[in-house]
Amino acid sequence: MTSITSILDKSTVTKSDLIELLKCEGADMELLFAKAAKVKQEFIGNGVALRGLIELSNSCSKDCYYCGIRKSNNETKRYFLSEEDVLEAAQFAHNQGIGSLAIQSGEICSDFFTEKISSIIKGVKKISNNQLGITLSCGEQSRETYKQWFDLGAHRYLLRIESSNAELYNKIHPMDENHNHQHRLNCLKDLKSLGFQTGTGVMIGLPFQTYEDLAGDLLFMKEFDIDMCGMGPYLEHSETPLYDYRNHLLSLEKRYELSLKMIAILRILMKDINIASTTALQAIKPEGRMKAIEVGANILMPNISPGKSREDYSLYMNKPGTKDTPEDGLLKLSKGLESINHRMLINEWGDSKHFLKKKQ
Ligand code: 5AD
Repeated sequence: MTSITSILDKSTVTKSDLIELLKCEGADMELLFAKAAKVKQEFIGNGVALRGLIELSNSCSKDCYYCGIRKSNNETKRYFLSEEDVLEAAQFAHNQGIGSLAIQSGEICSDFFTEKISSIIKGVKKISNNQLGITLSCGEQSRETYKQWFDLGAHRYLLRIESSNAELYNKIHPMDENHNHQHRLNCLKDLKSLGFQTGTGVMIGLPFQTYEDLAGDLLFMKEFDIDMCGMGPYLEHSETPLYDYRNHLLSLEKRYELSLKMIAILRILMKDINIASTTALQAIKPEGRMKAIEVGANILMPNISPGKSREDYSLYMNKPGTKDTPEDGLLKLSKGLESINHRMLINEWGDSKHFLKKKQ
């Protein structure tokens, strides 16, 4: 029996077990993937829930060292979708049987923004006769703002911790009040206590990041008892400060594999949470998003943003799908899923089973 098999058979794992799993390769990695696939089949099944992704705005008040839409990047053309555009995309999602939306935006904290999101939530509920679900991913906001959005019917919120290690967090963000690890954590706590299905995630393969950091991230997610996770490889962007470290990174292939291993391990650790298969994986390999589904993810986020703004929502370089129409994107996904014996869940919210069980 290999040591990987014995780790995979344990009911509780240590940090050093996790590090060993994160480092495994070849046949051992396949064992990890197979175990994760089995766990997913048992606890989630082969249904994949959809979130129609709407990238509302790339305006951002933050200056994260890795992100292409950071405030200081003057090369990015800023946009803010009109409410009409958002509702048109929502209507498209509804017509296509996409049961839920994910509305993402750069981080803007203002009354204008709070009201804009509130109005969009109301509009989405209205045009879909209360049927479309809503995940928000609009950064750090006040508890009051989160509450206002929750009360209007947004029921899931994704806020990536980016790294659970405050030291690493401080290396990839400016050290100032606007980029505070503890504040981000407090936001996650607010979201959870308000009743949101709460999701977080990290970037994988960041400069300065160690296997221990990633193992810590997994333990953090378990400890925080998250309901959902969206995580993917770090991809460099030439107009960001972290680009200077591009020669210190793992190869794209290794970042890809490591991301898949993170997903597989998280599925084994947290059997019934929602795990998204993220676009960043697909940026490395066209089949990446399907591979993530095979090794444990159960959520896909087809981009339904209007084509005109897609290229400007450029968090990293070579973002895929910026030229697809929403119809093309959906068709590609459904064919891809069929080829790996999975199926799209149509007209379903696809809420986190983990969350629903806690509420019982
Ligand atoms: N590579 C990968 N992911 C990135 N994000 C931002 N910039 C990058 C990048 N260069 C992710 C962050 C953020 C989310 C919106 O996108 O995790 O939370």
